Amino acid sequence: MVSLNKLISTYDRFSKEINMKKNAISLEYMLPYVIVHNAISIDGRLDLNQIDLRLYYKIASNFNEDATLVGSGTMRSISDDEGNEDERVYEKPRIDAKDTRPILFIVDSKGLVRNWHIMKTAGYWKNFVALCSETTPKDYFKYLSERHIEWIITGTEKVDIPKALEKIYLTYGIRRLRVDSGGILNGVLLRHHLVNEISILIHPQVVGGDTPKSLFVDSNPWSEKDTSEMILKNVERFDNNILWLCYQVLKKKKEGESPFLP
Ligand SMILES: NC(=O)c1ccc[n+]([C@@H]2O[C@H](COP(=O)([O-])OP(=O)(O)OC[C@H]3O[C@@H](n4cnc5c(N)ncnc54)[C@H](OP(=O)(O)O)[C@@H]3O)[C@@H](O)[C@H]2O)c1
Repeated sequence: MVSLNKLISTYDRFSKEINMKKNAISLEYMLPYVIVHNAISIDGRLDLNQIDLRLYYKIASNFNEDATLVGSGTMRSISDDEGNEDERVYEKPRIDAKDTRPILFIVDSKGLVRNWHIMKTAGYWKNFVALCSETTPKDYFKYLSERHIEWIITGTEKVDIPKALEKIYLTYGIRRLRVDSGGILNGVLLRHHLVNEISILIHPQVVGGDTPKSLFVDSNPWSEKDTSEMILKNVERFDNNILWLCYQVLKKKKEGESPFLP
């Protein structure tokens, strides 16, 4: 006859297994679907002489993004114009449930991005959120609140990217996220197994050079163990010799494994 203790321990083991599976599923679904979209040279660099921006954004418009994620390096490369703010930068975004425009998120733990007015007045985004950390300078929050830019704090020094993505999923309902960024933020996302799709527009240019301006930058090369499997989801050749490749990343993370990797 089965003892009561044995029954209880079997029940405990099963309920633990069920909870682990439940957690794995909910963690999976609490992160947005992340698409890294970049224009690159044939030597894989992001610092092209010329980008076909019309084509770049035409392809991006098919991603049905709920949000765009931009790195501080990219934002600061757009313009260092901190002045010349027009009045509209101080307007509070009107949140309307029917507004299908995406939300802009910028990763900026050091509070260096001071050209938000360019994005606020572009008309493409409906709301604006800075991703900061516990050590972001306090005066930056004053700058943000004066301009009705919201913020999320995760991480001590740098932004804790997996947690930030979970927060934007839960707080802002972001399900599809397009990354418009340089190799550093792309590298952080890939390192944390947070990238679902890699979309590259290969331009017929060679840039050369030996500085790390590649699509994914990381201090350590990827080992075979770290490398994700991918399948080619889409390919298209355009008249101007540009090739579009879109890869689906199959192993975003191992099954049941927390995305909150060190
Ligand atoms: N060809 C293209 O399609 C394309 C597209 C976009 C941009 N670009 C080019 O890319 C260049 C900028 O790229 P970049 O690689 O220098 O900068 P970036 O990727 O735009 O910015 C670096 C970002 O990574 C964050 N970061 C770095 N380490 C981190 C960590 N350990 N944890 C969390 N976050 C971390 C930084 O946050 P903190 O600010 O908090 O440090 C920052 O937001 C520009 O020249 C731009 O023109 C090209």
